[in-house]
Amino acid sequence: MVDRYVVQDNATIEQAMRCIDQSGGTVALITYRKRLVGLVTNGDIRRAILQGSLLSRPVAEVMNSDPFLLRTSEMEDNTRLSEALMFLKETGANVMPVIDDDSRLLDLLFTPQLEALVSRALRKTDGDSKQRPRILLVGGAGYIGSVLARLLIENGFDVRVADRLMYGREPIETLIGQPHYEFFRSDIRHIENMIDLVADVYAVVHMAEIVGDPACALDPSLALETNFLSVLAFATLCSHIQVNRFVYLSSCSVYGANSNPDKLLTEDSPLNPVSLYAQMKVKTESGLVELAERSVNFSPVLLRLATVFGWSLRPRFDLVVNRMTAQAVRDGTITIFGGEQWRPNIHVSDVSRAILAVLQAPVVDISCRALNVGDNDLNYQVREIGESVARGVVGTRIQLEVDNTDKRDYRVSFDAIRELLGFEASVSLSDGIREISEFLDLESVDFHHPRYNNLYSLRMQ
Ligand SMILES: NC(=O)c1ccc[n+]([C@@H]2O[C@H](COP(=O)([O-])OP(=O)(O)OC[C@H]3O[C@@H](n4cnc5c(N)ncnc54)[C@H](O)[C@@H]3O)[C@@H](O)[C@H]2O)c1
Repeated sequence: MVDRYVVQDNATIEQAMRCIDQSGGTVALITYRKRLVGLVTNGDIRRAILQGSLLSRPVAEVMNSDPFLLRTSEMEDNTRLSEALMFLKETGANVMPVIDDDSRLLDLLFTPQLEALVSRALRKTDGDSKQRPRILLVGGAGYIGSVLARLLIENGFDVRVADRLMYGREPIETLIGQPHYEFFRSDIRHIENMIDLVADVYAVVHMAEIVGDPACALDPSLALETNFLSVLAFATLCSHIQVNRFVYLSSCSVYGANSNPDKLLTEDSPLNPVSLYAQMKVKTESGLVELAERSVNFSPVLLRLATVFGWSLRPRFDLVVNRMTAQAVRDGTITIFGGEQWRPNIHVSDVSRAILAVLQAPVVDISCRALNVGDNDLNYQVREIGESVARGVVGTRIQLEVDNTDKRDYRVSFDAIRELLGFEASVSLSDGIREISEFLDLESVDFHHPRYNNLYSLRMQ
């Protein structure tokens, strides 16, 4: 167990960082003939890289050769234990080495264990004082990000959001000032502003994009800058400074017009994007994998989301389930374009649960993997979605438009994420429809307002 955290004193910075990534911790312990000679944190490594160190240099050059340590003889010394805990919090390390009087590494105390020792000693119960890994949500003030931020905080992470607030401040208003939440108004296209924001984080979830087919088609250059060039420039920065856990939100729309009634599409199925938005997703996915192939330790994971539904601090009514439900509640009539095409669906809270599971998974299990995020039972034809909405909102009339310009048609398998992470959806389509309609009954939201629709909003900018 101790061995997972240890590299020899002749190891390179690259090897030390791999050790940190694979142990899931934040430090590597450097030993020489079983004696501890230093300690290096992922923060130490990133600072050194930003000052010009190469990954091939010996880790001994950047390690702290006089770190805070506990000796076995100090394990009953309350002052020393609380100093050790303070040291972990200040440095962002999550593990304290325990050595004997001959500097031999005997054991490791993780933050919770040290906390338990200190609080037992001081008889205090400060349950929220754990070292919390920080996650950077780029584009985290949007529909998914504003739900994900809360879930991550509830699950012991610190959350930092960087977003240019294209759709207003409303989604973050109730989060600003909350413990464990930080917000920075920044534009990913200005990569120079991202360096400080990412240098001290454990992982990145990237979702700052021009989202949706119509929004991308409206301004293709903005889509190119944001959805492709900026993602790869930012990922290159992350890989350079060894922020290696990079969660990229892709989309099942990469499968495009691809439905086969007899077979669900898997991650290995051919990609057939039919819009600029989906084409950008395909290019960015492959750009991230190529970057990983020529980088050391960089471990992107490509999450291909089903179409999302449900309530959020930044509701979107340009998504099929939400749009139909709002039309049913407000207008009494829903329009279905085409209707036969297949579409997988997933609730926004379930997407957030899937991202949490990915962040908690061992890096080797997810590195460079594409994963469909959804549930086999939530594949529906668009006509069936309309019928579900009509059942959920009594009195709804359905208007069928046979002419359909949306060529997307895909029925997707979500076996891989279930097998790898045990992930299954917890919210059904009918529960999501009920949630949206109850909210619209309670609140005087004008669902036609541009702020709830990416295309309309962009037209006004
Ligand atoms: N919602 C879905 O159904 C769905 C389905 C598949 C994939 N996805 C993917 O999930 C991610 C998030 O989607 P969402 O539904 O939350 O979208 P959203 O439009 O609600 O959020 C996008 C956020 O990115 C921000 N942003 C845009 N350009 C930026 C820039 N240059 N710099 C900083 N911030 C910027 C916006 O201000 C917004 O807050 C996207 O990558 C999207 O492609 C979403």
